[in-house]
Amino acid sequence: MALPIIAVVGATGAQGAGVVSAFTAPGKSGNYHIRALTSNTTTPAAEKLKALSDVSVKSVDLNSIESVLDAFRDASYIFANTIFHPETFMSQGPKAAQEREEGQGLNIVRAAAQTPSLKHLVWSGLPDAYKISKGAFDIPHFQSKIPAEQFIWSKESGLSERSTVLHVGLYGSNPQRPLWQGVHVPVAKKLLITVPFPPEGELHFIGDETINPGLFTRSIIEQPEKTIGRVVLGSAELISCQRWIEILTEVFKERGQDFEAGYLECTYSSFVTFWGPSGKEIGDMLQYWAKMDPADSWQDYRGFPVLTAADLGVEKELRSTKDRLLGMNEEEFDLISRASSIK
Ligand SMILES: *[C@@H]1O[C@H](CO)[C@@H](O)[C@H](O)[C@H]1NC(C)=O
Repeated sequence: MALPIIAVVGATGAQGAGVVSAFTAPGKSGNYHIRALTSNTTTPAAEKLKALSDVSVKSVDLNSIESVLDAFRDASYIFANTIFHPETFMSQGPKAAQEREEGQGLNIVRAAAQTPSLKHLVWSGLPDAYKISKGAFDIPHFQSKIPAEQFIWSKESGLSERSTVLHVGLYGSNPQRPLWQGVHVPVAKKLLITVPFPPEGELHFIGDETINPGLFTRSIIEQPEKTIGRVVLGSAELISCQRWIEILTEVFKERGQDFEAGYLECTYSSFVTFWGPSGKEIGDMLQYWAKMDPADSWQDYRGFPVLTAADLGVEKELRSTKDRLLGMNEEEFDLISRASSIK
């Protein structure tokens, strides 16, 4: 008998690759056929996927619903994540990036709704900060995922009896990314991180973003009776910013670096002045989390309680932010420590 097909949108991206690996891991493989969808089937990441058994790689153009429909044909399960396209953001600004991601998300959910074989869609999203904050926070890279979620929960889509939405927390690898990257201060032996967020404020981290979205997705698909029609909080840990800095220091020590992580909270306006439009994007997100209780800021806008890793029984398998940082190869870790420039 043919194996049920899981179509994975963004299969070479961090989250999608984690979903592919969760279903091809030792002891978990052989139950499904993974259809890895990507815009370019000849990249090194796509070539790697082709080498796996029970995995096929197929190209998809998320800007075309016909292409997405074709990509989903006969799929029993779909995992989908879209990105806030960095090039569109840099060249045309946040609204253009938001519209592009909204359009791609809607193509995905509309095509999913027209896929008769579909049993379960897992949509990777973010909370509706605008609605939850009653209009106080309008964060383009959050709102870009909302029209798809609204379509999923709408009566006419018929998807609410076949879907789970996974709201994914901060990536463990964030200190590699420009606005989170530290500045090395040799006289203080510190890698200084400066963002507009109070040290005692708490943040939800997905932890290892290359593995955990896959573990969540697998446990969601394996427990439809618990997860259909619900929002899952994709968080491995809720930690204060201060604790996050301590974790970075522990990682630097374990990796043999002779500096610690330091933290200087800055103002929202100085962050936006320094970083420009990207600073506003990240600054608005951090202000949203700083001003709201995490129990509110990550809620399901429909008012249903969100399911946690503990509810799904997956929390012991998840890999933490610290695991992600310790597991990095030298090249990846250099992006955080700038070790080469320090010497
Ligand atoms: C696809 O990836 C290959 C290998 O990285 C690259 O040479 C090619 O230009 C890419 N194609 C597109 C359309 O981006």
